[in-house]
Amino acid sequence: MDDRPIGVFDSGVGGLTVVKEIIRQLPQEDVVYFGDTAHLPYGPKSSQTIKRLVRDNIRFLLKKKVKAIILACHTASAFTLEEIREENPIPIIGVIRPGAEEALRLTKNKRIGIIGTYGTIKSRAYSKELKRLEPGAFVIEKPCPLFVPLAEEGWIKKEATKLIVREYLEPLKEEEIDTLILGCTHYPLLKEEIAQVMGEVYLIDSARATVERLKRILEEKDLLAREGVPRHSFFVSDAPERFARLGKIFLGKEIGKVKRI
Ligand code: DGL
Repeated sequence: MDDRPIGVFDSGVGGLTVVKEIIRQLPQEDVVYFGDTAHLPYGPKSSQTIKRLVRDNIRFLLKKKVKAIILACHTASAFTLEEIREENPIPIIGVIRPGAEEALRLTKNKRIGIIGTYGTIKSRAYSKELKRLEPGAFVIEKPCPLFVPLAEEGWIKKEATKLIVREYLEPLKEEEIDTLILGCTHYPLLKEEIAQVMGEVYLIDSARATVERLKRILEEKDLLAREGVPRHSFFVSDAPERFARLGKIFLGKEIGKVKRI
C-alpha cells in the first residue's frame, strides 16, 4: 500500500481526460496534476525544447512526492518517454504504447490511422510502436493541428468545427482504415464530430488504456492507495482561471482551486 499521489502532466488542460479515467478506475488515488499552460502548445515545438520542459515538469511533480507519473501529453510521450524513464526511479507511463495496443486489439483489417500534433506525427512514435507490435500493419498518419485550439475554445458541435474535421479527415477515409488513434489529449473532445466523418471506425482514446496500464503497475508493485477520500490538486504555469474554466469541460465537473507556480 502507498498513499502518495499519482502525478499527471500535460502541456495544458487536455491531460484531464486521463485524470477523469483515474477517478473512474482508481477512485481512491490522490492526484497531482500539472498543466504547463505557459508553454502550450507543445505540438509544434522542437524535441530539445520539449525535453527541457518535460524535465522541469517531472522535477515539479517529484517535489510533490508522487509515486508514479503519467505523461498524458502525446507529444511529450513521443519525444521523451525512454530518456525520462531512464532518469527517474519511479514508474513513468506514456500514452503511446497503451493506445497502440488498444488499436491492435480492435482492428480487424490491420489498417490503422493516427492523428496527432505535428510533433507526434513527425516523431513517428505511434507507427514505430504499431509496426514493432504488428509488422504487418498498414499505418497512415496525419497531423490535425487545428483540433487543439478548437477544443481549447470549447468549439464542440459547431458548424465551423465540423467543416475543419471533414477537411482533415476526408482523405483518411479513402485508406479504408477500420481504426483511428486519437493521438492527442484534446481530440477526444471532438470525438462525435470525428465519428460523423469517419463512420464505422474504432476511435481509440488512449486515456482508458493508459490508466489500465497504470493500475496494473500499481498492483504489481504494491503501490495502490488505501480506501479513503481522494485529494485532487491542480497546478499550472500560467492563467489558472482559464484552466479552471476549460477544465470543467474536459473533466465534466468543477475542478476547484487551481494554483499557479
Ligand atoms: N497535449 C498535446 C498532445 O497531446 C496537445 C496540445 C499541445 O500541442 O500542447 O500532443
